[in-house]
Amino acid sequence: MYYTYPGSKEPTLKKLQFTLYQGQITAIMGFNGAGKSTLMNLLGGLTQTQRGSILLQGKPVDKQLGKIGYLRQEPDLMLLADTVREELCWKNHTITQEELQLLLKHMNLAEYADDFPLALSKGQRLRVVLGAMLAKKPALLLLDEPTTGQDEQSLAEIRRLLLAYKEQGGSIFICTHDMELAAQVADRVIVLCAGQIIADGPTEEVLSNKELVEAGGLTPSALLPVCEQAGLPPCITVEGVKRYVRKTAVGRH
Ligand SMILES: Nc1ncnc2c1ncn2[C@@H]1O[C@H](COP(=O)(O)OP(=O)(O)OP(=O)(O)O)[C@@H](O)[C@H]1O
Ligand SMILES: [Mg+2]
Repeated sequence: MYYTYPGSKEPTLKKLQFTLYQGQITAIMGFNGAGKSTLMNLLGGLTQTQRGSILLQGKPVDKQLGKIGYLRQEPDLMLLADTVREELCWKNHTITQEELQLLLKHMNLAEYADDFPLALSKGQRLRVVLGAMLAKKPALLLLDEPTTGQDEQSLAEIRRLLLAYKEQGGSIFICTHDMELAAQVADRVIVLCAGQIIADGPTEEVLSNKELVEAGGLTPSALLPVCEQAGLPPCITVEGVKRYVRKTAVGRH
């Protein structure tokens, strides 16, 4: 698939070809301007490719946008209701009162249920949009930088919600510069550089490759030099180090 912005001479996205799988979280990472949001807009049906096609469960994506939840890089554009409560139920005919209360609690929004969404803080506004999306249980969730401006508690809650959504069989395509988030939730990482895929593989494998990470404009995990000094294989999370240590300890018995 290729995409060229009207008036541009060069395509912004070139030779892209990949498949996303149900029940997986795939992170897309790369330099500012690499084309990540452009790709998200195509997957979310906001723009159309001039060359190539995008299919969702075998059918053109733009014919079934109801199955997609797209959190844009500018989530405020999606706040339309007068209260947080209404926003979370926006165009959602199946949500029950119990589900709404649970969602308000999980998104740390219970005390703002009757507030005007645009009057909330940036992090809270993002959680309102994300919550409304999760409530509709879409087949594919597209998230463009969902952790911008979130405090530690909200970050942990977002990570938990994404993993729970995946456990229920949902698929997530997440664009992020947040290495920690990718390392903790993604099954797979795609690195985009100047509109082309330069890496695509299991998270641990891609993010522990220092050269690849740097080529994609990302900051390698601080754990990589520590692992190198300690003679451990490259790990990107503390859990990864623990897993390795446990495995070798068991191996010695
Ligand atoms: N509406 C537009 N018209 C023309 N060019 C655009 C338009 N939107 C984006 N671009 C260009 O397309 C390229 C990719 O932009 P895009 O926003 O997709 O990058 P990104 O990877 O999401 O970056 P960031 O990490 O900063 O969000 C950039 O060179 C940008 O200037
Ligand atoms: Mg972007």
